Amino acid sequence: KRIDARDAYVLPGLIDSHVHFRTPGLTHKEDWEHGGRAAVAGGVTTVLDMPNTVPPTLTEQALRQKAALVNGRTLVDYGFHLGVDPERPELLASLDPAVARSAKIFMAGHHTAPTVLREPAQLQKAFAAAAEGGVQLVLHAEDDSLFALLDGWWGEPGSYAEYEARRPRSGGIVAVAKVIELVRRHGTKAHILHLSSREEADLVCAAQNAGLPVTFEVTGHHLSFTDEDTHRLGARTRLSPAIRSRADQDRLWEAVWAGQPTAIGSDHAPHTVEEKTRGVRQSPPGLPGVQELAVAVWTGMRRRRPDEHPDRAAERLVRLLGSGPTDLFGLTGKGRIEAGSDADLAFLRPDDTWMLSAADVRSKCGWSAYEGWTMAARVTRTLRAGRVVWDAEDGTFGEPDGRWLTPADKHGGL
Ligand code: DOR
Ligand code: ZN
Ligand code: ZN
Repeated sequence: KRIDARDAYVLPGLIDSHVHFRTPGLTHKEDWEHGGRAAVAGGVTTVLDMPNTVPPTLTEQALRQKAALVNGRTLVDYGFHLGVDPERPELLASLDPAVARSAKIFMAGHHTAPTVLREPAQLQKAFAAAAEGGVQLVLHAEDDSLFALLDGWWGEPGSYAEYEARRPRSGGIVAVAKVIELVRRHGTKAHILHLSSREEADLVCAAQNAGLPVTFEVTGHHLSFTDEDTHRLGARTRLSPAIRSRADQDRLWEAVWAGQPTAIGSDHAPHTVEEKTRGVRQSPPGLPGVQELAVAVWTGMRRRRPDEHPDRAAERLVRLLGSGPTDLFGLTGKGRIEAGSDADLAFLRPDDTWMLSAADVRSKCGWSAYEGWTMAARVTRTLRAGRVVWDAEDGTFGEPDGRWLTPADKHGGL
């Protein structure tokens, strides 16, 4: 079939460096078959998967077992973030760089965090060991102690919005400040995930200006939703870290315009509708988003800067969903179209207006907080390794022969 690309931007296959594809143990929410289809339908051809599965991925052995489960089942290429074992943070010093792209630390506990490093001694050990092993850290930087205290005092919340209003902004600020201090002391490379408030953005940018090796991610969710959506959608928009105000979202967009985040991630974290509607406290945090990511960010860019030439938006998308995460995580051959790169391509048709509905959702969870959104672009076709893996015209997918990207070998395989 002839490919006509005259109506589309031809982008490098996009990288989503933050997904939860739920294998092993949580495959009633998502699996690599569905997750891969959602990804390529959104122009994403490479994902990096998080370790909070059941059991969590805390050792190289567990990670190899996960890779074996994914092999032959998914449309995307993939790599993994390893979880840090709170009992043995020193293991990071000898982590085999061929196995994991980074090590992930959860600094706060919630339904979906299997392992938490809260104690200063644990965090110092982990940062020192990561620096020694040359390991890139990625961090869920939240401190939930004040929230736990307030929540205990105030008793049963009447609504999800009321519950979230108890969550002090200081939780994220304190944790980000801790990370910056740990980076200053140990020289560890630290990437702070899903920045959610303006104060956090100010802190990290100041640390970067001071020359510290700290980078950050913003998510499609935090760029797309505010607490007004939380009022409308209730606990479905429950997310950790929480979705905040319009002023916070404006600050995150300022960071995007200034080219400050290294990556935009989806934090694709599906839960079933039944789980999300169990009640304010019982509803787990997390929303799907790998499929919506590129078009939602594109839509946000076009709405916020309608007078800007769309080429600028395309360039920004390629940086934040291409070269940025590629360079940070060493994804050789990805994220750019150049000699020697993999033939992964995403065709994005700009100014193609359509409304997203539940029927479009490819994630196994079957719902999206973007239902009813009018999107300002469409991913018409996606290629991975030179073959069509998504064709929007007839709604078909390719072969699930995505491969594990290991730094040891440019073209995968250990
Ligand atoms: O909202 C969240 N959901 N935050 C996390 O850190 C984990 C994620 C999940 O796995 O559901
Ligand atoms: Zn997180
Ligand atoms: Zn996450």
